[in-house]
Amino acid sequence: MIKVNYIFCVLFLCSNALSGEVVQNPVEHWAEYPEINYGVGEEKALLEKGEYLVKAGDCIACHTSSTKQPFAGGNAVKPTIPLLGMQIPIGTFYSPNITPDKKTGIGRWTEAEFSRAMRHGVSPDGSQYYPVFPYVWFTKLSENDIKAMYAYMMRIPAIEKENKPHDIPWIMQWRFLMLGWKLLFFYPFDGEFKPDPEQTDQWNRGAFLVEGPGHCGMCHTPVTMFGSPQRDMAYTGSVIDGYAAPNITGSSLKKVSVDKLVRVFLYDELPGGGQVRGPMKEVNHDSLVYLKQSDLEAISVYLKSTVDPKPLKLSGSGMEKASLIYNKYCVNCHASGAGGAPKYGDVMGWQAIIEQGKEKTYTHAINGYNSMPAMGSCADCTDDDIKLTVDYMLQAVESGGDIIARPLGEPPVEYTLKDGERVFNEVCVTCHQEGTLGALQLGDPRWGEVLDRKGFFGMLNGVIHPRGYENTKGDCVKRGACKTCDDGILIAAVKYIINQSVEGANYVLW
Ligand code: HEC
Ligand code: HEC
Ligand code: HEC
Ligand code: HEC
Repeated sequence: MIKVNYIFCVLFLCSNALSGEVVQNPVEHWAEYPEINYGVGEEKALLEKGEYLVKAGDCIACHTSSTKQPFAGGNAVKPTIPLLGMQIPIGTFYSPNITPDKKTGIGRWTEAEFSRAMRHGVSPDGSQYYPVFPYVWFTKLSENDIKAMYAYMMRIPAIEKENKPHDIPWIMQWRFLMLGWKLLFFYPFDGEFKPDPEQTDQWNRGAFLVEGPGHCGMCHTPVTMFGSPQRDMAYTGSVIDGYAAPNITGSSLKKVSVDKLVRVFLYDELPGGGQVRGPMKEVNHDSLVYLKQSDLEAISVYLKSTVDPKPLKLSGSGMEKASLIYNKYCVNCHASGAGGAPKYGDVMGWQAIIEQGKEKTYTHAINGYNSMPAMGSCADCTDDDIKLTVDYMLQAVESGGDIIARPLGEPPVEYTLKDGERVFNEVCVTCHQEGTLGALQLGDPRWGEVLDRKGFFGMLNGVIHPRGYENTKGDCVKRGACKTCDDGILIAAVKYIINQSVEGANYVLW
């Protein structure tokens, strides 16, 4: 953590640090990049280039399941595809060990084999990789880039750790079927990044980072029912692990300056206000904070030049406008109840929210609240637009009950895994140690089943709103029987439970 901030400072932020501007992130840093021997001269330059690209590619996020074993794999990746308005999980992929261990890692691979895997999605034995490995983006890397990345990957510490087989439907286990997928969705678009001579160097650099190693579209571009990116709607927003990855096209970010965008990446500050959470926080912390300021600016310049083919026209007024905003931004979560979002029109689910008073509800929607992103990730919306949309949503449930406004609370504090551990040991332990009332014990592998079944948010809700929405079997006692715990600390406790009990799951940064 200290080291991270230090590197951070050395790279480009010392002046800010001195002026007291660096916001220390209180959440534990996830995987650390290993120390390596860079050598000198040309070798050093090559290894540094490779490390930089590996950081830009955020390989560490997917390929690390334990902070002590960077790049040794075992992390669970659970992609979903949209079908009939729902997000359908297609199975659990476990990332392989990509350390240079000769037995369990890629230590025996040649550079050509590495290149074929990274740029064409084909393994050394000739079988096809699934696109959860983002080769659809990495194909934009040049042969020289790959050379540097290969050199770096061969230099990181080798760790012996067996790969875990994917847990996917049998039909998908036939890798050759991926060839059909690739013919349709990959080969027409593969190949090294070609700079556009009409554009500036800065723009081209940004385009390369976004379209290539950064694989931003993996989360921000809608996915077709075949699991391929919907290229004509690039960067117009998608859903990932229950989080809405917002529209980051220029059409949506037009009021957000390059400077503000850079702050999203460095300080986790969302343009609409509030803190970056979930998967994007991981992207920032494992990847983007390591990039040069000039590269982050290039990324921002490129994003701002992209166009949403179907932009939201914030015209109209009153409920008409609110309904537009709702259907573009809020519907992803509030129609289905994703991530524990109170469902549109669900009187039971909104009851407690209405009781807390309208001002507080507005503040939550504007500043963000637990897994509710600030402004519902509508960067183009004003506070008044959001208030209007909240009114629109409340209209569907308000049935004449008196709403008493209460004073606004302080913004929520961020807790660490340590806080979670403390609360667990003080409170949750009463039942979750002895198995009282059938509660699962810390470290019980069955927590993994709960996580699979309910997802991260489902589990949070099982504690925070055990009866709020529907009485789901397996729910905890209300708020873990802790009267003084706020939502943040309960979330930290649940993260702690998952961290201690489920292999390959890491939600520390979420
Ligand atoms: C979104 C998650 C994700 C990211 C990001 C990611 N990978 Fe992977 N990678 C995977 C998964 C999952 C597989 C297994 C694919 C399969 O089995 O078809 C994989 C497979 C691989 C393989 C093949 C290993 C083998 O044993 O066959 C290599 C090499 C690899 N990744 C390197 C990288 C590098 C280098 C980066 C960063 C530039 C990276 N990956 C980024 C998820 C990811
Ligand atoms: C693993 C999925 C994932 C990847 C990869 C990813 N993002 Fe994100 N991004 C998200 C999510 C989810 C959010 C919403 C965060 C929140 O609401 O707290 C987000 C938010 C953002 C925002 C803030 C937008 C707004 O209006 O609030 C920007 C800008 C952004 N991402 C840019 C990028 C760029 C650039 C890349 C590639 C370098 C990238 N993202 C890669 C998931 C991802
Ligand atoms: C990424 C998913 C997501 C999106 C997109 C989203 N919400 Fe939410 N929202 C949530 C979740 C989850 C909660 C529940 C938070 C909790 O109670 O812990 C929530 C809660 C709320 C609440 C109740 C806040 C309170 O005081 O308890 C309001 C109001 C709200 N959202 C409005 C909106 C509006 C307006 C939009 C669109 C502009 C929107 N949301 C978009 C996930 C989302
Ligand atoms: C009075 C006993 C008790 C206490 C105290 C308690 N729990 Fe539970 N918890 C349970 C029981 C019982 C279940 C449900 C077991 C089942 O039916 O599978 C449960 C389930 C859970 C679940 C799974 C929820 C789901 O959606 O499936 C989580 C997460 C959880 N507890 C977290 C906590 C946390 C965090 C604390 C401390 C803040 C806590 N519990 C304190 C009894 C308790």
